[in-house]
Amino acid sequence: MDIPDIIIAVDGYSSTGKSTFAKMVAAEFSFLYLDSGALYRGVTLYAMEQGWIAGDGTIDIAAVEASLDGLDLHFRHEDGATQLYLGARCVEDEIRTLAVSGHVSPVSAIPSVRAYVDRKLRAFSKGGRVIMDGRDIGTTVFPDAELKVFMVADAGVRARRRFDELAAKGQAPVFEDVLKNIEERDYIDSHRETSPLRRPEDAYVMDNTHMTLHEELVWILGVIQGRFGILEAPPLSH
Ligand code: DC
Repeated sequence: MDIPDIIIAVDGYSSTGKSTFAKMVAAEFSFLYLDSGALYRGVTLYAMEQGWIAGDGTIDIAAVEASLDGLDLHFRHEDGATQLYLGARCVEDEIRTLAVSGHVSPVSAIPSVRAYVDRKLRAFSKGGRVIMDGRDIGTTVFPDAELKVFMVADAGVRARRRFDELAAKGQAPVFEDVLKNIEERDYIDSHRETSPLRRPEDAYVMDNTHMTLHEELVWILGVIQGRFGILEAPPLSH
C-alpha cells in the first residue's frame, strides 16, 4: 500500500504493546521506528550509574540537568532492530530492567529531561516517514502528526505481558511487583505537570486487551485506508 511520508504518533499507557505495534507497522510499511521511552530510560540509567538517584528514590535533579548537554544518547538501526546507544555502548538490555523501570517515571517528569528527549526525537525524525511511540508524541512532540493512535489495555493483561517479557530475558520477576510498577507509572505518567499522558482528541483509540498482533495490523490498515482514502487491499506479511 502506498502510504505517504507521514509521521505516525503512537501513545498510550505502559505495556500496552506500543513498541511491538509500532515496530510491526514500521517493518510493514518501511517506516523508521523511534522509541521515545528508550531515551527516558537511557537518561535514567545514566543517572543511576552516576549515583544521582538515592536508595529512597530521591533524584539529584541539578546533576541530571547539568549532564544533558553532553549526554550522547542515539539509536542505531541494524538488521531491522532499533538499539539505544549511550556513546559507543549499547544499553538496550540495561534500560529494560525493573530497576530502571522503577525510576524512569520521576526522571521523565523533570521538564529539562523532557525538553532534551523532545529535541532528540525531532532531530532524529527529520523528513518524516517515522513511527514513534510514547506518552506525549501526539500531544506535545508532534501535535501535527498526520496519524495518531492511542493504545489502552487492561492493567492485569499488561502486567502479564511485561512479566513474560522479563522472564523470557532471564530475569526473575514477581507478578505483583510488575503490576504495582505498571499502576504506579500509569498514575505518575498521567498526573505529572509537564506533558502528562492523555489521549489526543484526534487519535484513533485501540484497546488491544483481547487483540492478536495480526488483528492490530488489520486494524491499522483499516484506519490508514479510511484516513488517506486508499482503496486497494494490500498484502499482509504478518
Ligand atoms: O514506554 P516505556 O515504558 O519504555 O517508557 C518509560 C517511561 O518513560 C514511562 O514510564 C513514561 C516515560 N515516557 C514519557 O514520559 N513520555 C514518553 N513520550 C515516553 C515515555
